[in-house]
Amino acid sequence: MKFFVDTANVDDIRDLIALGLVDGVTTNPSLIAKSGRNIIEVIREICDLVHGPVSAEVVATDYETMLEEGRVLAEIAPNIAIKVPLTLDGLRACKTLTSEGRMVNVTLCFSANQALLAAKAGATFISPFVGRLDDINIDGLELIADIRRIYDNYGYETQILAASIRSANHMSECAKIGADVATAPPAVIKAMASHVLTDKGLAAFLTDAETAGIKIV
Ligand code: G3P
Repeated sequence: MKFFVDTANVDDIRDLIALGLVDGVTTNPSLIAKSGRNIIEVIREICDLVHGPVSAEVVATDYETMLEEGRVLAEIAPNIAIKVPLTLDGLRACKTLTSEGRMVNVTLCFSANQALLAAKAGATFISPFVGRLDDINIDGLELIADIRRIYDNYGYETQILAASIRSANHMSECAKIGADVATAPPAVIKAMASHVLTDKGLAAFLTDAETAGIKIV
């Protein structure tokens, strides 16, 4: 499973690059706003750091302006994935932009029907929001499994990019289901390394090493 980092914070991205955990980056208008930076500048800086797909989202809602914004975003770097919302205008923009050879990430997906439409529109990625479904007591991971089954039934090439990931458990469950990508905040990715028995075992090793006077350097 590919790991994308869901942030526009360049320092956090650098930290995870050092761990070899960045196959791509996703942003959205809220994350760009949180960065306090100009969207073109921050996306360009991220694309200079990350060679995998970098999602940058349009803010228009009509087809023509989505195309205009998408083409501006795509000019930033060759690894830009244009993010469009899962609306009829967004799907139409997806079809046009992918026909121009551009990567498109269709976002704000909350149902199998929406994911089916995105695949038929030629989306490069579909972003089902796991956490936001969980927030309203609908099993977000079940949607990932449903989309995986539908896409595999028909050989759709659209990649399932599980988004709105809120826990390390979401990451492992998405991997069990077979999501192509999971995009998560830096803290969630780092939390995957934590286990109480690892901490306990390491402490015991270090105590024994000190007691035995083990010196390596
Ligand atoms: O990429 C989508 C993601 O940023 C949404 O996450 O936690 O705001 O639902 P969240």
